[in-house]
Amino acid sequence: MNRRHLIAAGAVAAFAGIAPAAAQTYPTRPITMIIPFAAGGPTDVVGRIVAEAMSRSLGQSVVIENVAGAGGTTGATRLTQQPPDGYTIMIGHTGTHAASVALYPNLRYNPVTDFAQIGVVNTNAILITAKKALPANNLAEFVTWLKANERTANNAHAGIGSVSHTTCLLLHATLGVKPQSVPYRGTGPAMNDLVAGQVDYLCDQVVNVAPQVRAGTIKAFAVAQATRNAALPDVPTTAEAGLPGYQVVVWNAMLAPKGTPEPIVNRLNAALADAGVRARLAELGADLPADNLATPAGLRAFLEAEIAKWTPVIRAAGVTAGN
Ligand code: MLT
Repeated sequence: MNRRHLIAAGAVAAFAGIAPAAAQTYPTRPITMIIPFAAGGPTDVVGRIVAEAMSRSLGQSVVIENVAGAGGTTGATRLTQQPPDGYTIMIGHTGTHAASVALYPNLRYNPVTDFAQIGVVNTNAILITAKKALPANNLAEFVTWLKANERTANNAHAGIGSVSHTTCLLLHATLGVKPQSVPYRGTGPAMNDLVAGQVDYLCDQVVNVAPQVRAGTIKAFAVAQATRNAALPDVPTTAEAGLPGYQVVVWNAMLAPKGTPEPIVNRLNAALADAGVRARLAELGADLPADNLATPAGLRAFLEAEIAKWTPVIRAAGVTAGN
């Protein structure tokens, strides 16, 4: 063995000794949580609630870093480039870790094998929302308006592959329309423009929609699931409003870089179970995941199932990033 090999062997041995010890004392410094969309949107809201509770439970600050772009895939790619030491984690979702596979031919990560899965954080109902001035007061009127104004109607979303993009894509496929697409770096800024009347409509997650509907700044025509949402009990389901074929639920999940030691993964997973997190998310209308999805193994299996579910849907819609 030459000197170079000896040094390399020594480094591996040292890392093997240090890694378990570091996992035992983890965390000893602040943790960065990547949010792959703009501040003020649903992923950011969920992330900040989780980060606050995790800071308490882990005894270290959890600092949010918004890394927006390319429908959330820029932030997810950034996570894969970080050391697997538990000091950088992210909140991903249906877009970054399922729909992206079919939408981005050059996706730089595999959502299953390039990450350590921590757990599903919550599921989120999707609502069809519109600016106040839109001349429609219920889902049937909205559908009539959209079909009549297909060429000029503009649909805000958070970039190709974001959930606001894919869920409105499903709506458009259901209705057979292809309106104008207006991308943002998150539905935080998209919602601001909807409130200001700059764009016509948005398919968005309940945590972003509920505060605006309660404040009377936008219209919500329907919630795209089988039951009404507790945070917006007056908004009908799509089935009640006459569009039973349009149902979709999305989710947020916590991830770390591939190779993160198991004790750290388990520590992060335990921090997710905080009762305060669950109560705050429920207040905003988010639903809590089934117990089996809130585990690392449960999330991994769930991601595989979600990729298998979304890939044919997106291929059938004939959309990829770039068209
Ligand atoms: C956001 O946080 O801005 C959204 O989750 C974006 C989206 O996927 O629609």
